[in-house]
Amino acid sequence: MNEERLNELVGQAVGDFGSILSGGLIVLGDRLGLFRTLATADGPLTSAEVAERSGCAERYVREWLNGLSAAGYVTYAGDGEYTLSEEQAIAFTDESSPACVIGGFQAMLAATRAVDKLTDAFQTGEGLGWHEHHHDLFHGTERFFRPGYIANLTTSWIPALDGIEDKLTAGATVADVGCGHGASTIILAQAYPNSTFVGYDYHQPSIDAARKAAADAGVSNRVSFEVASAKDYPGTNFDLVGFFDCLHDMGDPRGAAAHVLSSLAPGGSWLLVEPFANDDVADNLNPVGRVFYSASTLICTPASLSQEVGTALGAQAGEARLREVVTGGGFGSFRRVAETPFNLVFEARA
Ligand SMILES: C[S@@+](CC[C@H](N)C(=O)[O-])C[C@H]1O[C@@H](n2cnc3c(N)ncnc32)[C@H](O)[C@@H]1O
Repeated sequence: MNEERLNELVGQAVGDFGSILSGGLIVLGDRLGLFRTLATADGPLTSAEVAERSGCAERYVREWLNGLSAAGYVTYAGDGEYTLSEEQAIAFTDESSPACVIGGFQAMLAATRAVDKLTDAFQTGEGLGWHEHHHDLFHGTERFFRPGYIANLTTSWIPALDGIEDKLTAGATVADVGCGHGASTIILAQAYPNSTFVGYDYHQPSIDAARKAAADAGVSNRVSFEVASAKDYPGTNFDLVGFFDCLHDMGDPRGAAAHVLSSLAPGGSWLLVEPFANDDVADNLNPVGRVFYSASTLICTPASLSQEVGTALGAQAGEARLREVVTGGGFGSFRRVAETPFNLVFEARA
């Protein structure tokens, strides 16, 4: 037994205790407007000022400020005053920035609420559907992914597909499958006003939220959302079908691939966005892999196991496994067209 290594491990665990608890504080601060109060102030505020401006009780707010100052997510300015640095303000209040982490905390904390249900599922092998999670998972996922889509979708991923940008500009028909709250659908609709879009998801509350988001964004005339599963959504002759971070959540991804192929127009493309992963487990044992394997344990693997076939690709499937699924569904060509630290982006064609 190496005493030093044991101490390191315990030190790491203390940091992780703090991470789990910070998640709760961050979701509270987001819900109650505490971050926004700090970010919009002219200078540092006392706990009483933050409490008064956000309509909260001072004693709670003081403890919250100290907890997040210790975490490095709020700045203690001395003399009982607190502020957010510019970077902290972006990370905790600017949802247009790819550096915004607030949705990530909301989704991750929601995922941990499934631990009781998963205790049984681990023993029985049964699944736990996406829809069975706390509703913060649906909202948090949208808020977590949207900044990445804003940063990459129309500037990098669409241009990387063969001929699709021109088709979208001229006027194309697009399906966004497993669309959740429709973040990707709406971003595409805003960028390509001559095209029409339909989003499909099996989860009715997500479809309701997506319809509202499209109305709020003023694109409802060209965007519709329908409840449908990836293997039987209606409609054919799509120039582009998008799957954003959802194929691995599905019970039968190969069956979904076959259905996508049958729904494409001649020359149409499938844009498949999946979590970044290498093919070998050993190459994913890093901070990003830690997040994805953990989210996959709590969310994605049980989601797939809850559906027919139960392939359970997991969120770290990697390119080789995804290629098998996509070509197994009948696609003749499959290539990686882009990547970010968090996503692999593929184009599949007949
Ligand atoms: C991780 S979320 C991604 C949502 C959205 N694409 C985004 O990027 O924000 C996965 C989505 O897949 C949906 N989903 C899971 N299985 C599905 C299936 N078999 N058919 C259609 N949608 C499915 C879930 O309801 C959920 O909205």
